[in-house]
Amino acid sequence: MLFDPKPKERREDLFDRDDELSKLRLGLNYPITLLLGIRRSGKSSLIKVLMNEEKNNDIWLYIDLRKYEGHAYLTYRHLISEFERALNTWPEWLKKLLHGIRGISISSPGIEVRLSWGKNRVELADLFDKLSEISERESKRVIIVFDESQELRKLKGYNILYPLAYAYDNLKLHFLLTGSQIGMVYRFLRLNDPDSPLFGRAMYEVFIKPFTREQAIEFLKAGFREVGLSVSNEYLEDAYNNLGGIPGWLTFYGFNYLQSGNHYESIRRTLEYAIDLIKQEFENFLKNREEARERYYTLMMICSHGCRWSDAKRYLEAKEGVRIDDKKITELLQNLVDSSFLMKENDIYKPSDPLIAKAFETDLTK
Ligand SMILES: Nc1ncnc2c1ncn2[C@@H]1O[C@H](COP(=O)(O)OP(=O)(O)OP(=O)(O)O)[C@@H](O)[C@H]1O
Ligand SMILES: [Mg+2]
Repeated sequence: MLFDPKPKERREDLFDRDDELSKLRLGLNYPITLLLGIRRSGKSSLIKVLMNEEKNNDIWLYIDLRKYEGHAYLTYRHLISEFERALNTWPEWLKKLLHGIRGISISSPGIEVRLSWGKNRVELADLFDKLSEISERESKRVIIVFDESQELRKLKGYNILYPLAYAYDNLKLHFLLTGSQIGMVYRFLRLNDPDSPLFGRAMYEVFIKPFTREQAIEFLKAGFREVGLSVSNEYLEDAYNNLGGIPGWLTFYGFNYLQSGNHYESIRRTLEYAIDLIKQEFENFLKNREEARERYYTLMMICSHGCRWSDAKRYLEAKEGVRIDDKKITELLQNLVDSSFLMKENDIYKPSDPLIAKAFETDLTK
């Protein structure tokens, strides 16, 4: 069902993403593919549909890092427990093939894979070696997905770029990295930094954009048609005007309409839900940035309808009554852009989603 609010798993529930799916499929021939798109644009859905369609050809490991968004940092233990969870979704015969790696135990009956992170900890490079061996043996690709890969930036005391670079150069493994905070994914990979293990490595990039006005309206029409409802064009236009083209918000609106049968009520509920969620995500963004909390809120407010760098500087300085270093202003704005709360278009900083604009329209720091 198109209006199902969970990530989609079947192609017939995924509206108009055939191009992106083909690109993603092509990308699987490269060692690392990036799937980038702002929040709720449909990245997880795209991956789940692809996994479903390729489940007989490929062996998948899906690592969901979304839950760490609110964490100030991640440890090796967190990472290993995510691998453990993903490996345990494999069928028994496949799990048995993991025998013989230091730090991995396989208990039967039921075949449970345990990965140790203590003294005798499993090393990712060893696990990757084994997975590559399994890929050759089974003549299937092994694809490791890091959903919301920018969270790996927060790993403390462990640099995952080394095993990734090792796998890139030597193994038969494929990695699919998604990111809602697009600039943060690049900051994590440091492809242009000569000191980075992944320096200079090419990656295949797929971008997923919000729906255009036409796509959004077609999507809503198709969703209503599917359940035998016909909703007036005026309402569909109004839904786009209020919510924009992010598939996640449109889905939530459709889902609510099916329950309430009332357009205005559904718009109201969607706005309320979206604004709450955006604010919560902004609080997550502030987790390691408490000292600049007020400045970030002020910047989001000033830029909610578009602003220039000079507007940001003038307003912040007037508000605080002190001079602020130019570099500091640039850094604050860049962090907001890299986390995809703002985007920059021809020198204008503006929210990357109209509902982000709505969430920050009034000055929340007062
Ligand atoms: N092309 C599409 N057709 C139908 N529904 C979609 C489509 N894209 C996204 N959705 C719906 O939008 C919502 C968000 O999708 P999904 O979780 O896949 O996006 P995401 O980019 O992974 O989001 P997040 O950044 O929150 O992880 C879900 O309810 C999903 O069902
Ligand atoms: Mg997702």
